[in-house]
Formats: sequence, structure tokens, C-alpha cells
Amino acid sequence: MELTLAPFQGVTHKIYRNAFGRHFPGMDRAFAPFISGVNPQKINLSKFRDVLPADENTIPLVPQFVSINASEIVEIAAVLSSYGYSHINWNMGCPFSRLANKMRGCGILPYPNKIREMMDQIFSRTETDISVKTRLGYRSPDELFKVMEVFNDYPIKEIIIHPRTGIQRYKGATRRDLFEQLIGLAKAPVTYNGDIFHHSKYTQLQKQFPGIRSWMLGRGALINPFLSSQIKQLSLSDNHKREAVKAFHQELFEAIHQKTSNKNKLLGQMKAVWYYMSGMFSGGTQYFHRLKVCDDIQSYVNFADELTALPLASDDEIENHWKTGLKHI
Ligand SMILES: Cc1cc2nc3c(=O)[nH]c(=O)nc-3n(C[C@H](O)[C@H](O)[C@H](O)COP(=O)(O)O)c2cc1C
Repeated sequence: MELTLAPFQGVTHKIYRNAFGRHFPGMDRAFAPFISGVNPQKINLSKFRDVLPADENTIPLVPQFVSINASEIVEIAAVLSSYGYSHINWNMGCPFSRLANKMRGCGILPYPNKIREMMDQIFSRTETDISVKTRLGYRSPDELFKVMEVFNDYPIKEIIIHPRTGIQRYKGATRRDLFEQLIGLAKAPVTYNGDIFHHSKYTQLQKQFPGIRSWMLGRGALINPFLSSQIKQLSLSDNHKREAVKAFHQELFEAIHQKTSNKNKLLGQMKAVWYYMSGMFSGGTQYFHRLKVCDDIQSYVNFADELTALPLASDDEIENHWKTGLKHI
């Protein structure tokens, strides 16, 4: 089985991914948060900063883009390929209206003809492997069925499906029934993504979809970075886990601190990490409420020390953090 760390704009940046790979075992690859707004006539390499250089990744990385411009995509593929990336991912899942209302992210799913027109140009002009990360639809859960007919006409490397619509964002029921129908139709290999918040949830899904070999872990791995090692049945003591979280946190904090002297930016980035990872500790959800109002570095450091000394959360507590601690934006 293959496990992939999902991309999270504002959380799983290069520093986070590389520290994650150094301290937490079991993840086979990571997808980077999307790159957008590349001017195909005049490439600005700062747009690619998060994924370059390619040989620094501690987890094999797949860069991601969001675009509705075929020339831009061909150019992104060319730049990334020149830096050593042979597989890139097309984001057709982002639900935020700022993007989706401009036919970007999942906003393109109601327009299969537009996707065909773009794929015609892209696949005839690039050799780079392209996978797609998508949802059931933007407004309606049946949109992906029409889009799948288009996907099946092109050499798409892989299709990652989050079985919700864009308007659901990240909450409400996932449609496993529709996911099952879609894997029956897809020619490309399918990866499942959605709501795997602990090991037993993975086992349930794996029983329901025995043909699926590839799983993308999102919020579940951000809350509990040992989710991948649990799924792979690597046995690690609680003490080892606690020390690894402390070392991960220390590396992240120092590296971000080195990059920015702006206190609010540093604390903002660390809070984004704890928004999820506080759920790894028993009572961590309540601790996070205290962290939210923390505005100086010394009290932040004290907070992190206290939090990481708490007992590790049980699966039930992790599920509870998922259900009550996360606002699911
Ligand atoms: C704050 C936030 C940022 C995200 N950024 C991206 C992104 O850049 N690219 C992407 O494909 N998905 C992005 N996602 C979606 C996640 O990668 C993932 O598909 C989603 O959380 C569902 O998986 P999960 O239920 O395992 O968390 C983001 C989600 C959140 C909540």
C-alpha cells in the first residue's frame, strides 16, 4: 500500500514536509500545496520556491498546480521537469470560491468540454506525468461521472478523489457509494482521500475498497503524524512518539524563526500546525484555545512545552478533536 501526505496551503510547506519526513516514518510521498498565477511568457522562479530544489525533499514530492490555462500548465510542467520532477498534480478539487468561481480548482468540474479542450493541448505538448486531484463535483455530486469520460481519453497517471462536492468543502457526509461507482469507471489508478482520522477508519475503508492501493492522508496525519506508521504497523513507543513530536516542533520552530523575524508571522505559522497537532495530546483541544490568544514568543514556548508533556490522546479523543476541535473552514 502507498501512503501520501495531502497538501495543505499554509501548513505543509517545504519546512514542514521536510521536518515531517525526518521525524515521522511511513509516508511514501507528499503532494505540495498548489502553485498558481505563473506567467507562461515570463517565468518567475519565486512561484516555485516551495518545491525547489527537488533534491532537498525528505519525502518524495509531487508538486501541484491550479490553472485553467493550457499554456501555463505546459510551462509549469517544463520548468518542474527541468528541475527533476517527472510527475506533477493538477488541482481540480480546491473548493474556495475565490478560485472555484473562476473555473479553477473544483470550479472546472461542471465544464467537461473545457477540460477536454485543455487536456488535448496539454497531453500533446508535454511528456511529464500528470495526475489529477478532484472531488465528486462543484455543486452536484454527479459531475465527476461526465468528467471521468474525459479523463479516460487521456494518459492520466492517477486520479485522487475526495468524495465530497466543493460546496460541502471538508464537512458533511462523504459519498462512498459514488466513490465505488467511480473506481469502476476510471481507467487510471485511483487514490482515496477523505476523513481517515485514525487507524480503524482506514481499516474500514480498506475493507470496503479492497482494490484501492493508494491512500492520501490529510487532517488525520496533521493531527497524528504517526497515523502512517500505525497503518503500516510500525511499532513505536509513546515515549519515542513524544520525543519525535518535540524534535519535529523544535526543527520547525527554529527553521521558521530563521526565515522570518516577524513575530506574528512566526506565531501564525506555528498556530496553524497546532490547530491540528494539539489533537494528538489528551486535552490538547482545550490547550489550543489558550494558544490562539498567545502573542509573545516566551509564552508560546512555554505552551509548547506543556502541551507536549500531556499524555497521548486515544483514538476516541483524536476523533473528538476532529469533530469538535476543527472548524473545517
Ligand atoms: C487549510 C487547507 C488547505 C488545503 N490546501 C490544499 C492544497 O493546496 N491543495 C490540495 O489539493 N488540497 C488542499 N487541501 C485539501 C486537503 O489536501 C485534503 O484533500 C482534504 O483535507 C481532505 O482530506 P482529509 O479528509 O484526509 O483531511 C486543503 C485543505 C485545507 C483544510
